[in-house]
Amino acid sequence: MMQAASLPTRESQPDTLTVLGIETSCDETAAAVVRLGPGGAEVLSDRIASQTEEHALYGGVVPEIAARAHVERTDVLVRLAMADAGIGWGGLDAVAATSGPGLIGGVMVGLSTAKAIAMARGLPLLAVNHLEGHALSPRLGGAVAFPYLLLLVSGGHCQFIAVEGVGQYRRMGSTIDDAAGEAFDKTAKLLGLSGSGGPAVERCAMGGIAAAVDLPRPLLDRAALDMSFSGLKTAVRRAAGEGDLTDKRRADICASFQLAVADILAFKSARAMEMFSEGREGALTFVVAGGVAANRMLRARLEAAASHAGFAFAAPPLRWCTDNAAMIALAGAERLRLGQSDALSSPARARWPLDEASALNAPVFGGGKKGAKA
Ligand code: KG4
Ligand code: ZN
Repeated sequence: MMQAASLPTRESQPDTLTVLGIETSCDETAAAVVRLGPGGAEVLSDRIASQTEEHALYGGVVPEIAARAHVERTDVLVRLAMADAGIGWGGLDAVAATSGPGLIGGVMVGLSTAKAIAMARGLPLLAVNHLEGHALSPRLGGAVAFPYLLLLVSGGHCQFIAVEGVGQYRRMGSTIDDAAGEAFDKTAKLLGLSGSGGPAVERCAMGGIAAAVDLPRPLLDRAALDMSFSGLKTAVRRAAGEGDLTDKRRADICASFQLAVADILAFKSARAMEMFSEGREGALTFVVAGGVAANRMLRARLEAAASHAGFAFAAPPLRWCTDNAAMIALAGAERLRLGQSDALSSPARARWPLDEASALNAPVFGGGKKGAKA
């Protein structure tokens, strides 16, 4: 039986820390090695295997299939990431894995792998909150100094987070129902578009007129930062059922839908920047991360909102916006640098709010209540 053994921690950390990260919380199996030094982070290796094809037939991520695929791939990806990094096991200072929130079967696979490596190699273990990985991901691509305001907008999450420093996250608002990415995916499904949801809607919208279909923008009358996307999905369903669903009609619905999402996110982002600025001085940064940040129209709208509010705008390169292990390795390294590590008994958690205090006060706000990672 595994003991709640304490793993090695160091009184004082070396200047440079090298950490292996493992990510298995949804439908990507990933492993990466990141080196964190005084000048910032360097990604030594970054491997990812997506399961899109395995789940395509079912129109969504199937937890059992995901867990099985992680079992088959995690070891291989770890081996590849270690080989790419070229440092050998002796070159690692710690091993980090996502320990939630996510699909529990998958999380257990990655976390157990990390625990086994930690035990075998006598390394500290970092059980990382997946959302902390996303929150720190902008720092993978270059110097993004604390504090910053983050909009995390993906298939599983849609929330504003004030990132004050490592371990200091305040959720300022989030969706009260679906995540924005889920709304893109459902719209694509309703319209019978093939391929990955968000990109398919973006492509289809190019031939459409955004003013053609009148769609709701829920909760814009409220000052708070909560958002809602499920009504938008219902309105899309209604629009799709009216008359012939021609290619022209599909394009008009996609363009109108995309505009509605952009309006909601741009409006709430402007409000979030206003709130984030209160009591702060100097240059501030607004960061957007998550798969939906790939949408060109949306990115342009958010960049314009940032510029209007006097904020610098940053978005990590797409491969670190979507789920990846480099952000988990980085979060592990940042925590290790602060002298933290976790027990081998750390559990896998299906739900795990990043900001537990806010979650206690407003438990309904999650990030895509029905999403795989809610
Ligand atoms: O961050 P991600 O890879 O996984 C989660 O953590 O959920 O985000 C995936 C989501 C999907 O819902 C997908 O439809 C959406 O990001 N997405 C997009 C685009 N590319 C991906 N949404 C809108 N436009 C895109 N170009
Ligand atoms: Zn994620």
